[in-house]
Amino acid sequence: MEKKKPMVGIWDVHVKHMFESSIIIFFIIGALATTAVYYVNSDEQETSRQPAVRKSFVYDDSLDGCDLFSGKWVHDNNSYPLYKELECPYIPGEFACGQHGRMDSMYQQWRWKPHGCNLPRFDAKEVLEKLRGKRVIFVGDSVNRNQWLSMVCLLQSAIPLGLKKMHKVADASLFTFKAFEYDASIDFYWAPLLVQSNADHPSKHKRSDRIVHIETIEKHAKNWVNADILVFNSYLWWGTPTLKVLYDSYKDSKRYNIVSNHDGYRMVLEKWSNWLTTHVNHTRTRSYFMSMTATHQRGTDWGMQGNGNCLNETKPVMTDLFWESGSDLQMMKILELSLSKLKARGVNVKLVNITQLTQYRKDGHPSIHRLFYSTLKAKQLSNPSRYADCTHWCLPGVPDVWNELLVANIFQGLK
Ligand SMILES: *[C@@H]1O[C@H](CO)[C@@H](O)[C@H](O)[C@H]1NC(C)=O
Ligand SMILES: *[C@@H]1O[C@H](CO)[C@@H](O)[C@H](O)[C@H]1NC(C)=O
Ligand SMILES: *[C@@H]1O[C@H](CO)[C@@H](O)[C@H](O)[C@H]1NC(C)=O
Ligand SMILES: *[C@@H]1O[C@H](CO)[C@@H](O)[C@H](O)[C@H]1NC(C)=O
Repeated sequence: MEKKKPMVGIWDVHVKHMFESSIIIFFIIGALATTAVYYVNSDEQETSRQPAVRKSFVYDDSLDGCDLFSGKWVHDNNSYPLYKELECPYIPGEFACGQHGRMDSMYQQWRWKPHGCNLPRFDAKEVLEKLRGKRVIFVGDSVNRNQWLSMVCLLQSAIPLGLKKMHKVADASLFTFKAFEYDASIDFYWAPLLVQSNADHPSKHKRSDRIVHIETIEKHAKNWVNADILVFNSYLWWGTPTLKVLYDSYKDSKRYNIVSNHDGYRMVLEKWSNWLTTHVNHTRTRSYFMSMTATHQRGTDWGMQGNGNCLNETKPVMTDLFWESGSDLQMMKILELSLSKLKARGVNVKLVNITQLTQYRKDGHPSIHRLFYSTLKAKQLSNPSRYADCTHWCLPGVPDVWNELLVANIFQGLK
């Protein structure tokens, strides 16, 4: 019998970076309000203040043929932020930077400008209309959860009091946000390694000794089948150099191999691909994969002296094609190969390539301005860069732009 999981949604995430000798541990509690606090938004109609190039999100052909992922960040405090931190009741402590002492706000005011076109501004009403009767599920790790909450914040501003609800489904792996008027549901499912693993429990999992269970994706995936839009990610948890791959059922796992993270990722993506091919109705369901995001652990990458990281950074890196040393391009190549194999089998999973645009954003992380769930040690407190979170992203902030890009792709698919 499977043990009953507690109802407390706690994510205890361990992220070990390949290129880091130190282990960075983030204790993440899904401190999402089950009883939502609602508010009625009244100041979203700011269209007249937008620059002429920023048309609303009425989808037309102007984005066709444009590489949305190649571009630059432009400071734009007319259009951004798209919502205010205090106006979104769903931002958990990990991402609520302003409420945790962050005083600067320029990090909320950057627009992504693709070289060949203009990304339209996110229009919550329009997106909700497109999502009418649909179910969106974000599947993945805490960075995907970061993006899901950004999407919820972007949309909820257009939904009046009493017509929306955030709640946790019995198995604490699933969270769902409902927009009743639109019969739409925007969900998040915790599966940081996609297949079953020892990181699955939302509150209890080992922090080292990564184990993936290659043959069992069903336990998670059965929760994804009736989605209209699937948004996957999986990258950060593959940061340990090696991991254990089990072949038998979870209970009596005797057969296993120790493999490199790259081989493990390849195997799991193959398993995931097979599942997607056979279990998802691709006429109904559009699938997307969010590419890996940058972490900014090493200030030396952008010319800083000493051991600094994203702590105290208030501006993006402006050097074209900047690349931080923690990003494992090999992992990305493995993902791209998996997706191209899928395509050859007739299954189109679109890569939303946010990797390069996150590279520049050393200013977008919570660093020390977030809720920490472990008691900070004196040694950490005396050197705050030691516990700064340079992996996740403040809200409002960079994930809002990922959602603008995701929505641009979804609209293209629904045309
Ligand atoms: C917006 O940004 C410009 C610089 O790009 C600055 O001069 C102006 O004061 C800012 N406005 C507000 C309201 O912050
Ligand atoms: C797949 O989805 C389409 C569109 O919703 C539907 O018409 C079709 O019957 C579905 N196919 C199967 C095998 O369920
Ligand atoms: C970060 O900023 C704070 C406040 O200005 C300052 O006290 C601290 O020394 C800075 N830390 C680093 C590593 O630059
Ligand atoms: C995604 O972006 C990365 C970094 O810019 C690039 O190396 C890669 O080729 C891109 N992949 C695709 C499929 O466009």
